[in-house]
Formats: sequence, C-alpha cells, structure tokens
Amino acid sequence: MPSVLPSSDVEIYDPVEKGRHSTPLSAVRMSMLLSGQRAAARKCALIFKENRVASRLVRTLIAALALACTARIVTSAQGNPEAAKVKNPVAATPESIAAGKTVYSKCAPCHGINGEGGPGNDLIPAAPSLVDDMWDHGSTDGEIFDNIKNGVAPDFNMVPWKDQLKDQDIWNVVNYVRSIAKKK
Ligand code: HEC
Repeated sequence: MPSVLPSSDVEIYDPVEKGRHSTPLSAVRMSMLLSGQRAAARKCALIFKENRVASRLVRTLIAALALACTARIVTSAQGNPEAAKVKNPVAATPESIAAGKTVYSKCAPCHGINGEGGPGNDLIPAAPSLVDDMWDHGSTDGEIFDNIKNGVAPDFNMVPWKDQLKDQDIWNVVNYVRSIAKKK
C-alpha cells in the first residue's frame, strides 16, 4: 500500500512529455501492481530497498569524511599547549634581534627575505609567512621556538633545527621574527 511505503523518488522517462521527471517510487510500484506487473513491482521494491541502504551508506560516509576533515583542520591549526607554557628566556634586546637576523639567513630561502613566505618550487616546499598574524602551529614564543627546534610534524617540510642551532640562537630568531612582524 502506498501509505506504508516510505516515500522515495525515482526518475522515469515520460514518452509523452519526452523528458524525465521525478515520481515517488511508491507511486510507480502501485501503478505496476495495479496493472498486474507483479515481477516488476517486486523488483521495484528491491531497488527501493537498495536505494535506502545505499543512501544511508553514503550519508554515513559523508558524515565520517566531514568529521575526519574537521578533526584534521583542528589538529593542524592547533598549537602545542605544552610548548605554549614555555616562556621566552631571552629578552628582545637589539643584540638578540641582530643575532636572530643572522640566523634568519638560513630561513630566508623558504620563508622569504622579509619573512613574507614563499610559494615553493620543485626543490623547496611552500612556506608560510612569519610576519602576518596567522600561525598554523601556535602563536606564542614557546610554540614558535618548538616549531623551529623540533620541526613541524607530520611531514617535516619545516625541518627540525635542533642539531644546527643552539636554543639561544632559536630564541634570538624568534625575537627577530617578532621584530619584523607587520605592525597593525
Ligand atoms: C626548507 C624550507 C624551510 C626552511 C629552511 C625553514 N622553514 Fe620554517 N617552515 C617551512 C614550511 C614548509 C613550514 C610549514 C609547515 C607545515 O605547516 O606543515 C614552515 C613552518 C614554520 C613555522 C610555523 C609557522 C606557523 O604558521 O605556525 C615557523 C615558526 C617557522 N617555519 C620558522 C622557521 C625559521 C625561524 C627557520 C630558520 C631557522 C625556518 N622556518 C626554516 C619551511 C622551511
């Protein structure tokens, strides 16, 4: 009976109108039953069931994907609460900033001469600006220090510098980057 069948639409070709239009599947089935096409009606009921299963699967998949995407965005935009707690022990004196500028020459190939970021090429990855107020991995001195020292997981396009730079050098470059950041 049409009333017990949940409604679902099918596209059928209408030879009179010469076009497709959407009709409730229950109505199609009903008209088949009425015209005695029992086998077709049974098949129709099957398609109907498959349709519902498929659409439920699709819906679940979409929901799972959406969730995965949000989780990914949240993880990648997240800072590091532990690193955030670390206070910058090096005062941003002119000496520290000058020393940081020297260190920054190692960073410029990727992050740009003025920290503006770079589009990357076959050899070097695209690197974000360090002078805007967008920080993908945390905006505190402690987090920036951690990203420089330990690199940025998971693919480490931002390499760890801990073997090449002393902590003092890293804090100096943090101070330098802060000093060239765009003032609002
Ligand atoms: C080989 C290229 C390359 C070099 C050299 C490099 N970086 Fe990076 N850096 C990157 C890339 C790529 C990212 C983005 C990583 C990501 O988001 O996965 C990044 C990210 C960062 C971040 C995090 C930015 C944010 O938005 O949270 C900081 C801070 C940073 N780099 C500082 C430095 C400093 C300071 C140096 C020099 C000591 C340096 N980088 C050298 C490629 C580089």
